[in-house]
Amino acid sequence: MKQTILQLLCSSPGKPLSGVKLSKELGISRVAVWKHIQALNSDGHAIASSPKGYCLTNPDDLLLPFVFPNRQQTIHYFPTLDSTMDTAKELARQGAPHMSVIIAGEQARGRGRLNRHWISSEGGLWFTVILRPALPPPFAFKVNFAASLCLARTLEAVCGIKEAGVKWPNDILYQDKKLAGLLSEMETQGDMLSFVTVGIGLNVNNHPEHQEPNAVSVNRIVGTPVSRQAILSEFLDRFETLLTSIHETDIIELWKQKTSTIGRHVSIETPGAVTQGLAIDVDTSGALIVQQADGEKKSIIYGDCFHREPRA
Ligand code: BTN
Repeated sequence: MKQTILQLLCSSPGKPLSGVKLSKELGISRVAVWKHIQALNSDGHAIASSPKGYCLTNPDDLLLPFVFPNRQQTIHYFPTLDSTMDTAKELARQGAPHMSVIIAGEQARGRGRLNRHWISSEGGLWFTVILRPALPPPFAFKVNFAASLCLARTLEAVCGIKEAGVKWPNDILYQDKKLAGLLSEMETQGDMLSFVTVGIGLNVNNHPEHQEPNAVSVNRIVGTPVSRQAILSEFLDRFETLLTSIHETDIIELWKQKTSTIGRHVSIETPGAVTQGLAIDVDTSGALIVQQADGEKKSIIYGDCFHREPRA
């Protein structure tokens, strides 16, 4: 019922629908309509009420399946989840197809890399894509690099943010502040990947800087609220297309054109070790090549990367 109400409100942008009209269309009482509207508001859908009726405040920001006509069957929206990663894993184990997307309005236990807590309040874009690439596990890194590359390209195409750079391995930074984080997990079957789940947390219309001074949102950069629907739709199209050519495309070479890590002095923390030096390259396996103060080059396949001053 709530979904139908949203669909009706969406079909009347900027023009309020009266309680009487909604109750006739839906075959329920006006009180019942009012109760559903209250529930929708507490799910995070801003619906304005006036004497003329009800109206969606930001129809372009809805993330429900019906606003993605080509993907209705594979988009799953939940107002609140613990973590889209967990729900995605459950659905993947139950056989959810390639390019299924799990979106949460907010997450109670959003998680980041190294099991850190990821603040996921309303207004951000929190989602996980289930992928079934025909790849052996050692090549799963290609999927992560493809995701961060597509996200950086999407931010430029949809929001005009040209300076969004990818920090190795796959955060998106804007002027050294974190705009998005990516987390991927996988399960294998025999010699091949059974599925990969790529989780993306993008600060859009939320205000992470209140809790995380080193974070920034799209809204803060462009100065106006931005449609999460437009960002997600563009990202999914780009990502799906790039994945179809994952075997023949040099993803790392494309990714390097968007990274802000190469040429920076970095500090990489891995369990039990810290490596410092100048990031000079990313090799074909996705490893970061760091030239240390004594000139020795070290290849790092995993770690927490910090950009340090001064810039090279
Ligand atoms: C990081 O930078 O540490 C990665 C953050 C990834 C956060 C996203 S939000 C959607 C998905 N669900 C989660 O619980 N985490 C990822």
